[in-house]
This record gives sequence, structure tokens and C-alpha cells, in this order.
Amino acid sequence: MAKKIITGGTIATATDTFKADILIEDEKIVQIATKIEDKDAQVIDATGKYVFPGGIDPHTHLDMPFNNTVTDDDWESGTIAAAFGGTTTILDFVLTAGETRLSDAVIKWNEKSKGKAAIDYGYHLMISDLNEETEKELPLLLEKEGITSIKVFMAYAKEFQASDRTLYKAFKIGKETGSVVMVHCENGSVIDELVEEAKLAGNTAPIYHALTRPPEIEGEATKRAIELAHVAGAKLYVVHVTCKEAVDEIIKAREKGYDVYGETCPPYLTLDQTALEKPDFEGAKYVWSPPLRPKSHQEPLWNALKAKQLQTIGSDQCSFNFNGKKQLGINDFSKIPNGGPFIEDRFSVLYSEGVAKGRISLNDFVDMISTNAAKIFGLYPQKGTIAIGTDADIVIFDPNAKRTISAENHHMNVDYNAFEGLEVLGEPVSVLLRGEFVIKDKQFVGSLDYGKYLKRKVAKEQVGVLEVAVSNSYLF
Ligand code: URP
Ligand code: ZN
Ligand code: ZN
Ligand code: ZN
Repeated sequence: MAKKIITGGTIATATDTFKADILIEDEKIVQIATKIEDKDAQVIDATGKYVFPGGIDPHTHLDMPFNNTVTDDDWESGTIAAAFGGTTTILDFVLTAGETRLSDAVIKWNEKSKGKAAIDYGYHLMISDLNEETEKELPLLLEKEGITSIKVFMAYAKEFQASDRTLYKAFKIGKETGSVVMVHCENGSVIDELVEEAKLAGNTAPIYHALTRPPEIEGEATKRAIELAHVAGAKLYVVHVTCKEAVDEIIKAREKGYDVYGETCPPYLTLDQTALEKPDFEGAKYVWSPPLRPKSHQEPLWNALKAKQLQTIGSDQCSFNFNGKKQLGINDFSKIPNGGPFIEDRFSVLYSEGVAKGRISLNDFVDMISTNAAKIFGLYPQKGTIAIGTDADIVIFDPNAKRTISAENHHMNVDYNAFEGLEVLGEPVSVLLRGEFVIKDKQFVGSLDYGKYLKRKVAKEQVGVLEVAVSNSYLF
């Protein structure tokens, strides 16, 4: 691989912002200095641009069977769209429900991703049930595959939901193996009852998806997950936090010193529940779980991000075409496949709504979009920062570019964009993965066999603690 120099840009990491050149050689960053000259290197001009570490999306569902269908973005369209949006690593959920051996699920996922990944990736293992066999298999499989995170659902009673007993067992295995246990916090059994009540009353429109999954129930499940994880001694990561009730529980737990992290997603920060009331069944475009909330929940989410009580931004990419699979629920909101297309716009929406609008700092943005996920999920410092010795995963970002998000020009394999019409400031111009261009001047130039499976480490440090010691020790 030819050497490359990125020159003239402003590097922003989770802790610093500074002007410097970067020298890349053999997939790695080998030098950072005020001025680098090397006649053998290709020079990339980043004048007037930010130079960020590649985005890490800790929450995607590509090519996943769900709600009696399968998501419309597969690994090819999903990872290309991610790259356009400034994401160079995703962590995707491996579905184990229905498999006798958990390892069969990983084999299936390898078949889905093989030759179809434009960016690097790792897996989380979703657990719905644990029996004597899978309880023994799980720790061995995690170790063998370098999977250091388990996901458990407290929702989707008919498909994925685990009992509290299984949840507790997963926490115990999390504790034993050092794995993070990710939990979707809702009360699936109570939701099923509320859905029945709504349908008996003749309420079948998309808005009832939101009305049958109230925030109190997300708060209740979040508290339950927090206490069960604490009793088991596990590290808990609450996925897609949407509301004040859940945020409050996470803050209380963290203030007690519990090992709890929280993720939120761009739609919860920018859209609200009224989207589900759009006429002509268009509300179905905004059906995912937990649902969009009344606007009053946005400020607590932004405040929690700013206060570092929530650490990461996931896309929760789980796309279904509106003029396609979303229509499964035309007469019954409970049959609308749950999920939306966000993998491409996660990075830019957070930058524009967060940094450009003065809600979060530039360095906090990098922390949320990349660094914290790398730390929590055992990829740091190989991924998640710009430093000597790390993978040269880099986003060259034009902070002055203005554009309007639209399905007309996005790269996801869906016929709508949930942020349609949103004007954003800032745009990834070029994206490098391990020193190679994936996106160059807004064109895809990558390859579907370049994305590499990442065997991850167990994250030893608690994120937000001992940062100085960690950042000084990893380089050499
Ligand atoms: O509605 C959603 N979020 N679909 C994806 C599955 C999940 O709950 O994360
Ligand atoms: Zn979920
Ligand atoms: Zn205690
Ligand atoms: Zn999800």
C-alpha cells in the first residue's frame, strides 16, 4: 500500500482539536506532526476540513429476519451507506433465536457478511433463551469468536423476549466473561396486553404503536435491568434510550457507581411521536421500538449526552421499505415491521443537530460517534481515535457543506428517509478504512471484500474512569 499524508486539516479526537498532518503506512497512522513531507507518499489535502476518527456504529441489524420478514438493507447496501455517512466500523446483532447451537447463528451471520462488507465489523450475540447446553456453549463461543457483548430483549414477547431468569443468567455470564450485556428495555408482556386492548377498541393506526408502549414502561424495564445487572455484577449497556424515565434511571444508577452505559439514537433526538400520526399510513415509516416520544423527551436526552450520562449514538439501522414490508401493518399497527433506516445519517445528524447547533462540543461529538463505542466494546485504541499506531480509519469532513437529507440521493436500500427534508450542516467528503479510501470525494471507491471481521477484547477499564492512564499507556 502506498503511503499517504493527510495535510492541512484540523484533527478532532475525543479530547483534543489541533492542526496537524497525518502519515499513514500499512493500514496504520505512523506519524502526526505539524508538517510532514515524504516524496513517496500520496498527499490528500484536507484544508478547511475536520479530520475525525472513523465513526463506530455499535447498533445495526443488517439482513436480519424480524417481524415475519427480513430487513431490506443487507451487508452490501448497509455497509456502503454507512461508509458514505462516515462510519468505518459497525457492530451487528447475530440472531440466535431458533438455533439449537449458538455457533450455528454465527456461521449464518458469516455467510451474510462474507464478501459484502465495505467496512470493518464485529458481532454482538443476541440471546433469547438459555438451556443447559447453550449456557455452557455461550462463554466458549464468545471467547472463540472474540465477541465481547451479549444482547438480551425485554420486548417482542412473541419473538425474542427473554424471561427475567434468562436475563439474570446472561448477566452472570457477562460477569464471568467480562462481556457487556446490552439490553432492550421495555416490558414486552405488558405491551402485548396494551396492544390487545387497543385493537379490541378498534384502534389500528400507526400512532397506536407509540401509545401502547408508554415511556413509563421503558423506565420500569430500565430500572429492572439495572438492578438485575447490579446483583449479578455485570456491565450493562442500555440500547436505544428514548425517554426521560429511562435516562433518570441510568443517571441514578451511575451516581450510585453502577457499571451502566446508555446509548441513544438520532431519531429520538430530532423527531417526535407526532410523526406516527402522518396521514395515508405514512406514520408507519416511523414505527420502531421503543417508539418516538413527545418532544419534551428530547431535552433530557441531549442533556444526558452533554453530561456524559449517555455515552454512545447507535443507528439501530433496521430498514423496511414503506411501499413494501411496512404495508404488512396497513390494517393493524402491531404487524408493521419495527425499524428504520439510519445507518447513513447517524454521523451527520448528530454533527449538525449537536455540534453545529451548539448542544454538544466537537470533542464530545467524536466521543459519542466513535471513541466511547470503541472503549466499551473492546476495540480501543485500535479503533476510535487518531493516534500513532492506530488503524487509519479517518473521515475528512467539510463542516461548511450544506445539504438536505433525502431518499432521492441516499444509499440505503429503502424508499424513504426518516429525516427527509432535514437540512444539515457538514458532510463527510472522503472516508478511509485502514488507510484505503472507501469514499473519495463523495464517491464509493471501496471494495466489498476489504471489510474485516474484528475479534474484540474484553474492555478492562470503566469508560469515563482512568482516561488519562489509558490514553498515555496505549501508544507504545
Ligand atoms: O424497532 C427496532 N428498534 N428494530 C430493531 C430491533 C431492536 O429492537 O433493536
Ligand atoms: Zn431493541
Ligand atoms: Zn449493591
Ligand atoms: Zn436494534
